[in-house]
Amino acid sequence: MIKLRNISKSYQRAGEGELKVLKQVDFVVERGEFVAIVGPSGSGKSTLMNILGLLDTADSGDYELAGSKVSTMTATELARTRNATIGFVFQQFHLLDRTTATENVELPLVYSDSKAINGNTRKKAIDALCRVGLEERLTHYSSELSGGQQQRVAIARALINDPDIILADEPTGNLDQAAGRQIMELFCELNQAGSTILLITHDPQLARQAARVVYIDDGRLSSTAATGTSTEGTAANAGIQNGQAASPQGTFS
Ligand SMILES: Nc1ncnc2c1ncn2[C@@H]1O[C@H](COP(=O)(O)OP(=O)(O)O)[C@@H](O)[C@H]1O
Ligand SMILES: [Mg+2]
Repeated sequence: MIKLRNISKSYQRAGEGELKVLKQVDFVVERGEFVAIVGPSGSGKSTLMNILGLLDTADSGDYELAGSKVSTMTATELARTRNATIGFVFQQFHLLDRTTATENVELPLVYSDSKAINGNTRKKAIDALCRVGLEERLTHYSSELSGGQQQRVAIARALINDPDIILADEPTGNLDQAAGRQIMELFCELNQAGSTILLITHDPQLARQAARVVYIDDGRLSSTAATGTSTEGTAANAGIQNGQAASPQGTFS
């Protein structure tokens, strides 16, 4: 799904010279995996996420996403691939005010060039909100939802285009502990239903809930053995990527 080889990235800082943020990063994510990248503030997590999400480009190295070489893509191809392949979840929920949960979730369909608005749009948005457990909140405005519920709306919005992979950057960073735990459980459920998930966090305890944890420190990645209990194989999940397996299977520990 994701193959990074020898990826490096620096920022030029006025008066201070170059800051090397990613240093020869190699990283592979297979379809159906749930991987957490954990590291302290400033270690390069968001820089890596922006490159993985085609929001920024590396200085050097190779990146292959869903079978396509990213380094040779034009800006238009990057945007099209990003829309078709990736669902984003951020620390800030980025929902529109005075807009219902359903309308917020529909937005990517409204914007995506390949899928014009039709009677299906609303149904897809409602299906996505059901997958994240918000069937009772379809017509609530963002301001009427708790932080945890707003993040669920954002996750439903990330799911609406049937992405190959969900990239989440500190998705629980603005939530209290209980709400954060529920969001992690939701990611576990989505993964068990077939979604490929890459979650970035500074919180090692949260990261442990993923099936695989990768550490980033000062721009370098290091892997460890799987720590999670979620041993559902990647192959077993691969077949239901776009499946309607919406109901939580609920047996994660
Ligand atoms: N656009 C930028 N220009 C210059 N420096 C940046 C920029 N973005 C991030 N940095 C610096 O790069 C380092 C890594 O940042 P970031 O990837 O956001 O880390 P993290 O998400 O792990 O906190 C930090 O020292 C940060 O200050
Ligand atoms: Mg960050």
